[in-house]
Amino acid sequence: MPLWHRVEEVAREAFRRYGFQEIRTPIIEKTELFARGVGEATDIVNKEMYTFVDRAREDREGESITLRPENTASVMRAYVQHKMFADRSPGELTRLFYAGPMFRRERPQAGRYRQFYQVGAEVLGDTDDPAIEAEVIEMLDWFLRELGIPETTLLINSVGDAATREAYLGTLRAVIEPNLAAYCEDCHHRYATNALRVFDCKNEACRRWIVGLPTITDSLDEAARAHFDQFKAHLDARGIAYTVQPEMVRGLDYYTRTAFEIIGHAGLGAQNTIVGGGRYDGLSETLGGPPVKGFGFAFGLDRMVMSLPEEVASQLRAREAPDAYVVCLGEAARARGHEVARRLRMNGFAVLLDGTDRKMKKAMGLAAKSRARHALIIGETEVETGSYGWKNLTTGEQESLPLEEIVARLRA
Ligand code: HAM
Repeated sequence: MPLWHRVEEVAREAFRRYGFQEIRTPIIEKTELFARGVGEATDIVNKEMYTFVDRAREDREGESITLRPENTASVMRAYVQHKMFADRSPGELTRLFYAGPMFRRERPQAGRYRQFYQVGAEVLGDTDDPAIEAEVIEMLDWFLRELGIPETTLLINSVGDAATREAYLGTLRAVIEPNLAAYCEDCHHRYATNALRVFDCKNEACRRWIVGLPTITDSLDEAARAHFDQFKAHLDARGIAYTVQPEMVRGLDYYTRTAFEIIGHAGLGAQNTIVGGGRYDGLSETLGGPPVKGFGFAFGLDRMVMSLPEEVASQLRAREAPDAYVVCLGEAARARGHEVARRLRMNGFAVLLDGTDRKMKKAMGLAAKSRARHALIIGETEVETGSYGWKNLTTGEQESLPLEEIVARLRA
């Protein structure tokens, strides 16, 4: 938890600096939202959603509901439903962030869970200015540096617009068709519903064909290509390094134009994509809303925590350690102990009090186990003099100090 807290804290600081406000949407939405928003042909909708029929009420049929597999569709639903675009001037943006659990029925393994946590952000409005995209990536860049996450790689691509997509899909299907029999069953389904999704296939046999397929990036129209070039220029201007990866099409159907992923260090193994995001200009219309342009990302909190280097992790574990552990030897000492602990806590310090009678050695062992920085020791003499044993548990040094002095030392 100390590591999770740090990741959340730095994320909140990034969002504060870049003007994002928090949004909390429900964990359950109508199935239709994801089916339409994320896309019927995606693995997420096709195989991974936790979907239930809500019990029917007398006046209604049972409704199909789903534990959210992601949050972009929900944020767009909320934005449209609550008319968050009302009273906006042209070019004015709504910047929202969220953090919470998502659910996908995948085969669990290190870094891949059925309930996982995402922190994400969405920029919504009427402009698709690529400077917005670069600014969001600049924020992520700051965030990763501030956390001390090493060796990340930014992969970018443009997946074009809906209009060029149609023509490209025709070409793609024509190239796949002669060899379709060699592709896996899932790819047959992808071929029939959205051929672009074959790029999501992990199957060895399919991969051999997929590397030779024409990419959507090769068939971008003028406008999409210019947009992508401007995006790259904005990254260059910020000194942010990237690799263009034409096969990267992301596993969700709503993307248009810019798509990106951030890959973590090799130690993460197969599940090494820590951030995913992109532009989704048609999503609102797909959901029956007005035209809205959007760009955003989400990172897996679980994977981000796993990406923290060990030296950072151990510092963080120490950070949430108590300031003092109060050891009381005898009845009178315990009464004083409660008083001393209360006063330290009133002064803002984190204090644990051992409420059980034990031998000194055992009590000190527990103090060390609590990771407390100091032990405050009270026996009969200490009750009389008001001067307490104050032991630094890192150096082993021990002194006898009145409470005011202990407070002053802790403050310093
Ligand atoms: P996504 O790529 O599906 O994108 O997920 C984003 C991130 O969530 C991944 O890069 C990964 O770190 C984490 N993640 C996904 N599935 C799992 C899992 N089963 N276990 C652990 N971590 C996981 C989206 O969800 C989009 N909504 C992102 C976005 C926001 N695009 C635009 N705005």
